[in-house]
Order: sequence, then structure tokens, then C-alpha cells
Amino acid sequence: MIHAHVSAWFVTLILFFVALFLIRAGKKKPLKIVQMVLRLFYLLVLGTGLHLLAAAYQFKVLEANIKGLIGLWIIFLMEFILTRGGKGKPTKVFWIQLVIALILVFYFGYVVLG
Ligand code: HEM
Repeated sequence: MIHAHVSAWFVTLILFFVALFLIRAGKKKPLKIVQMVLRLFYLLVLGTGLHLLAAAYQFKVLEANIKGLIGLWIIFLMEFILTRGGKGKPTKVFWIQLVIALILVFYFGYVVLG
């Protein structure tokens, strides 16, 4: 399940950057499709994450839950950035949060929960 989770968030991050590129390029139709696939992957990340949270964690429960909440926040931030960015609205505040949340999630995922 850990491999499924890692694969899911990896693909999610790539699709997020593809979507950003499509916004910049002004390609609306492909953007819609990528965003739909991306939302499917949000669910996969969430599903595998919740499964890990429920099944694998007998200890470090608090840390795992914090990690899960940060992961969830990342999903919201990506969605905010893409929907607002697509409408030409400012996204800077969300970008700052995204960078911090990504650092935290990798810290929790690999260092704390390693
Ligand atoms: C885009 C969002 C997310 C990213 C980038 C992310 C990233 C990671 C990383 C790097 C790890 C460590 C993998 C390893 O040890 O090989 C991990 C593990 C984990 N993730 Fe996520 N995650 C995300 C979303 C979520 C969500 C939404 C949840 C829960 C609702 C979640 C729950 C977990 C749990 C419980 C583990 C611990 C697995 C273990 O070490 O045994 N993650 N995640």
C-alpha cells in the first residue's frame, strides 16, 4: 500500500505541473481533461493515505495523523492554485503554503515516520 501511495502522489504532483503548464499555454480543453484525471488521483492519494493510516499505524499515531492532515491540505492547495490560476486570480499565498506543506509532508513521511 505504501508503494501505491507513493505512486499516487508522485503522479499527482506531475499532473499538477502539467496542468500549470496548460494554464500558462492557455490550452483550456486539455486542461479540463488533466484536471479531471488529477481529481481522480487526489482520491487515490487520499484513499491509500487513509488505508495506511488505518492499517499500518499502531505506533506514532499522532505523527501519522498530522502527516495525513498536511497531505490533505496539499490536495486542497493544488486545487485552489489551479482553479484560481485558471481564472487569472492571484495564487501567491497558496504557493507559499504549498512549498511549506510539501517540505513538512516529506519531513513527516520520510524523517519522522520513515
Ligand atoms: C499530495 C499529498 C501527499 C503527499 C505528497 C504524501 C507523501 C507521503 C510520503 C513522502 C510518505 C512516506 C513514504 C515512505 O515512507 O516511503 C507518505 C506516507 C504516508 N502518508 Fe502520505 N502523502 C500525501 C497525502 C496523504 C494523505 C491525504 C494521507 C491521509 C489521509 C496520507 C497518509 C500517509 C500515511 C499514514 C503515511 C505513513 C506510511 C508509512 O510510513 O508506513 N498521505 N506520504
